[in-house]
Amino acid sequence: GYSRIAVAKAGEHIGARISGVRLSGDLDDDVVAEIRRALLENKVIFFSGQDHLTDEIQHEFASRLGTPTLPHPTVRGDGRSVLPVDSDFSKANSWHTDVTFVDRIPAISLLRAVTLPKWGGNTVWANTVTAYERLHPALKALVEQLWAVHTNQYDYAADIDEKRIGGIDVKEQSYKDEFRSQLYETEHPVVRVHPETGERSLVLGHFVKHFVGIKSVDSEALFQLLQRQVTRLENTVRWVWSPGDIAIWDNRATQHYGIADYGDQKRVLHRITLAGDVPVSIDG
Ligand code: SIN
Repeated sequence: GYSRIAVAKAGEHIGARISGVRLSGDLDDDVVAEIRRALLENKVIFFSGQDHLTDEIQHEFASRLGTPTLPHPTVRGDGRSVLPVDSDFSKANSWHTDVTFVDRIPAISLLRAVTLPKWGGNTVWANTVTAYERLHPALKALVEQLWAVHTNQYDYAADIDEKRIGGIDVKEQSYKDEFRSQLYETEHPVVRVHPETGERSLVLGHFVKHFVGIKSVDSEALFQLLQRQVTRLENTVRWVWSPGDIAIWDNRATQHYGIADYGDQKRVLHRITLAGDVPVSIDG
């Protein structure tokens, strides 16, 4: 159990609401340790009523959980590791784990509501550990041997998004150009061992280009089969943002999706990303 915070599960497989804590950089070590444990157990945790949070306090608190890193290798932040996720620049989304196209995938992300639309714009998270665990043993054996190429030149996702939102405007085009201004491409095992929990999880999401050694048409079919396990509704939790909310997720055990269903309304969230490790396969 927990003695310093209250943890209420949001569903069987993923998500919990945390209460009884006012987030800041000078929380007691044992409170921070309980928050970290709740994060590892539930994969994404939600705090409400944190209206006192600013970029600075978000950064100070984030620093208690790890090392804030450049939130994105190509997209400009404000120099303090804070990445505005801003509807003016990017609305389209699809299922992903943050920044998997670099060698050291970020470990944890903290996303805070800043400007919210009146309706829409929820975010959904999925548990990539239970997605792996639910696979048939024969499929597990297959994916445990596979590696995938991840890149920020993610054409499949981009094309789907551009169709879905009915075209792409100039600002969004310039964001995409910046996002792809430097090409990143790296290989990760499809099944990684979590450095803190030892759990096995699927490393997929929209930055996957193909599986190493498998033709792209076959890769696509296999990718869809695996992603379907990740995104089963029973494997997800959906958050309806309110002012003062902050979500923290374990980027080593989740994918997420910001739903672009808020029309022309403004939506801004501020993300801080903590440094992570190079994913380790089950063979070490
Ligand atoms: C993100 O993809 O990191 C942000 C998700 C969202 O906009 O809800």
